[in-house]
Amino acid sequence: MSNYHIKGLEEYYNVYRKSVNKPEEFWAEVADEHFVWRKKWDNVLSWDFEKPEVKWFEGAQLNITENCIDRHLLTNGDKNAIIFEPNDPKEASEHITYHQLSERVNAFANVLKAEGITKGDRVCIYLPMIPELAISVLACARIGAIHSVVFAGFSSSALAMRINDSNCKMVITSDGSYRGAKTIDLKGIVDEALEECSCTTSVLVAKRINSDINMKEGRDKWLQPLLDHAPKQCKAETMDAEDPLFILYTSGSTGMPKGMVHTTAGYMVNTAFTFKNVFQYQNDDVYWCTADIGWITGHSYIVYGPLANGATTLMFEGVPSYPDFGRFWEVIEKHKVNQFYTAPTAIRALAKENLDFVEKYDLSSLKVLGSVGEPINEEAWHWYNDNIGKKKSPIVDTWWQTETGGIMISPIPFATPTKPTYATLPLPGIQPALMDENGKELEGNQVDGRLCIKFPWPSMARTIWGNHQRYKETYFSAYENKYFTGDGALRDEVGYYRITGRVDDVIIVSGHNLGTAPIEDAVNEHPAVAESAIVGFPHDVKGNALYGYVILKETGEGRDHDNLRKEINQIITEHIGPIAKLDKIQFTSGLPKTRSGKIMRRILRKIAGKDTSNLGDTSTLLNPECVEEIMKNAL
Ligand code: WTA
Repeated sequence: MSNYHIKGLEEYYNVYRKSVNKPEEFWAEVADEHFVWRKKWDNVLSWDFEKPEVKWFEGAQLNITENCIDRHLLTNGDKNAIIFEPNDPKEASEHITYHQLSERVNAFANVLKAEGITKGDRVCIYLPMIPELAISVLACARIGAIHSVVFAGFSSSALAMRINDSNCKMVITSDGSYRGAKTIDLKGIVDEALEECSCTTSVLVAKRINSDINMKEGRDKWLQPLLDHAPKQCKAETMDAEDPLFILYTSGSTGMPKGMVHTTAGYMVNTAFTFKNVFQYQNDDVYWCTADIGWITGHSYIVYGPLANGATTLMFEGVPSYPDFGRFWEVIEKHKVNQFYTAPTAIRALAKENLDFVEKYDLSSLKVLGSVGEPINEEAWHWYNDNIGKKKSPIVDTWWQTETGGIMISPIPFATPTKPTYATLPLPGIQPALMDENGKELEGNQVDGRLCIKFPWPSMARTIWGNHQRYKETYFSAYENKYFTGDGALRDEVGYYRITGRVDDVIIVSGHNLGTAPIEDAVNEHPAVAESAIVGFPHDVKGNALYGYVILKETGEGRDHDNLRKEINQIITEHIGPIAKLDKIQFTSGLPKTRSGKIMRRILRKIAGKDTSNLGDTSTLLNPECVEEIMKNAL
């Protein structure tokens, strides 16, 4: 029996039992079996969810890039590490072997050093899905710099906020990016952001769209000439197990996005372990995750997890609808993809299109299909299973979070029988608990509860950058001695979990987490707006869409409401990015409030979702009369 690679259900249960009964022994075996360490750990785990403080593999020393690159060179140097598939299918794809990846990461690492970046410095990466993105991430890890990748769809002020929060010394970007038929002026966005960031003293610019851009003297440099002159070997920095590897921002229900801090050894061990088991990767397989590296899915399951296993990982620059809705399926045929990992929102969008787009292509290489980011509805699950997997490729519905670093609840293909809409069973080492609102743990089946995790796992985020108190309050205060996920879930009679959705003010739109508070702040910036409240409502492609209730300062007739709606969405685009735009904006004279002045979002949610049969008790509201008005004018 190998603890590292599980192949059957009985084996899963055995390994799982051991991981719960003897967690330290279990994780030590996994870590021992599969990685190269400069020095082994003195202590597998110490933890305290009160403080909270968690440390894995303390005393160990390593560099994650030696595990993701160097150790494959002898045996697998000529194997493809990364296949890059560009936005435009007419442009050639690029195959990067482990040898080439090694040279490119090392050269990049030397460039970072020459630019004055040292261990512990923060480097912001704002790049499209081109090889330089994965390479710069690894180059940072090589020298111990902490990368903070910001999804290149965020606006300049969202970018500036993230750069300032973690004091990034450098920004790595490109002249622009392709997105379907459009180009985006990334460098212009960076220039605008940096007007607000005094911490950033250098900007490296990759060439992608050959646009004419402004280069600021003394700050901006083209990347390629520097790489051309850099030595192709760079000694990997020795990192302690708990040294930060990266910061990745995720939306919270209130205020600033949270810079989740992931550390080195535990993150590596668990992303590698989960990648191997959840995708059942075999040596010559081609694996494709369609996420962007700007999100945690891309960090863990495009870069670190696959490369730690010596896998071939495909990076796709484009979108599923360009040049037509067959693009995903074309890429699968072209590269003979074996494992395909995508989001329910993409599946729903593609399921709406003509099946000809699918049937034109040979998808017989597929062995495992994955889903992540939000609950997958039954209809989408069956469409995926029938038309893409042809009922022979198990679907792994993987539940996890930016904060968890790696997949937590998921079937193991060919071992765990799947069940539509269920993420099924916890992976080894993961101990979920369902809690009721009063903090009692719920036992048994079919209970709807709040999902917590009651024991540490190696890839959990250790803190929020610069705000440990917020980390404690957000995740460890709702339930004593447990990590609270913010999700609701239920458990069936065999112990399978089904995640039902967020129970806080985070709304998942097209798989992207959005906090309502920052969007409301943006809306309130409009000079005509007095107050606003944003809720989610069900949407058949996006999963959820955003509905804004807006009180204007002056309600006078004759205001051009459509124009106001456009202006409000424009402000949201500037402050956060187009992903946070409101689908519906209803102007109203009041918002339902409790006597303590809190907006009753529950009521607004129901009205937005056209579910007004049972609004609950509204008599305790400060202003019950506004509910009627809102219902009457609902969009
Ligand atoms: C949701 C993405 C249901 C959940 C990896 C979680 C899911 C949030 C699933 C984290 C799933 C993710 N089924 N819900 N399989 N996967 N979620 O941080 O609400 O972008 O808390 O991490 O997405 O989103 P994040």
